[in-house]
Amino acid sequence: MAGLDFAVVGPGRVGLQLARQFINHGGRCLGIRGRNPQRPTEIAPGLRDVVFDTWREPRLRAAPIVFVTVPDRQIADVATDLAASLALDGSVVLHTSGLLTADALGPCREAGATVGSWHPLQTFPPIGAREAVWTDVWCAVEGDPAACELGFEVAHLLGMHPWRIEPEHKAVYHAAAAVAANLSHVLVVLGGQLLQECGLRPEKGPSPLAPLVLASTRNALDARQFENLTGAIARRDHATVRKHLEVLPAPVAAVYRELQSYFEAKAGSGDASREQVTAESCRRHHPTR
Ligand SMILES: NC(=O)c1ccc[n+]([C@@H]2O[C@H](COP(=O)([O-])OP(=O)(O)OC[C@H]3O[C@@H](n4cnc5c(N)ncnc54)[C@H](OP(=O)(O)O)[C@@H]3O)[C@@H](O)[C@H]2O)c1
Repeated sequence: MAGLDFAVVGPGRVGLQLARQFINHGGRCLGIRGRNPQRPTEIAPGLRDVVFDTWREPRLRAAPIVFVTVPDRQIADVATDLAASLALDGSVVLHTSGLLTADALGPCREAGATVGSWHPLQTFPPIGAREAVWTDVWCAVEGDPAACELGFEVAHLLGMHPWRIEPEHKAVYHAAAAVAANLSHVLVVLGGQLLQECGLRPEKGPSPLAPLVLASTRNALDARQFENLTGAIARRDHATVRKHLEVLPAPVAAVYRELQSYFEAKAGSGDASREQVTAESCRRHHPTR
């Protein structure tokens, strides 16, 4: 890698943790720019000496590596701002959106930078929550050849697994991450709330769901298809599924039904006599739903 000097635009969850991680691996953070001139109140340890919010710093004006870690909807505006504010000729500008491609940084490209998208397949909770792990995280890289090359080098430096994604695959790629990590997150929180309604609400310690959810997630990660799935759907225990559908909030029951149908279709029961708990059969059993 030519040099390890970098700047970050977007002092949020990814930006601050990336800056800290890069510094821990020998990078020199020239500055971090946010939308407002104040330092974030929640600041990652290791970033206390970093300059916040100014392009007036001469060293920042020529950062060789710029990470754009703002929300997706802000990337185009930031790219325009960067092109107008920094000397980008020869710089590499990388954004961290899972969905958008390098083209979102078009103005930086026109100003002489090479541009790319650099997306860690990881979740970054707010600073102060559980710290994000970078080692062995896969990182989807796409864009101009020089930007991709640098994106690979940065990822390797941080102990990640970079891979080249085709721009046309980014929407499906990002949807896959959302289904696996975000939808499951909503369902786990919901499951915890339902358990609380049953009186299971310990004041301290990990969630009572932890052993079940962690084991089930590990089983799912080990699986090629649905061979490790347990529970009423996998057993095709339709009476039990129907009972679940009766007691769940209607929108959750609807999702449950849809996923059950999806499982039946994908797992290919091969047994036409087995009853499927489809929306239709539920309506038969529970006409009010
Ligand atoms: N969080 C994740 O798990 C995760 C994982 C992988 C990739 N990503 C991607 O990483 C990017 C950032 O996500 P995030 O979760 O870190 O978002 P975030 O926590 O909301 O942080 C975004 C930061 O950008 C700042 N910002 C907004 N507009 C700006 C502008 N015009 N100029 C300078 N700074 C600006 C925000 O400031 P304010 O506080 O003033 O709004 C905030 O500090 C997104 O593209 C996201 O898709 C996120």
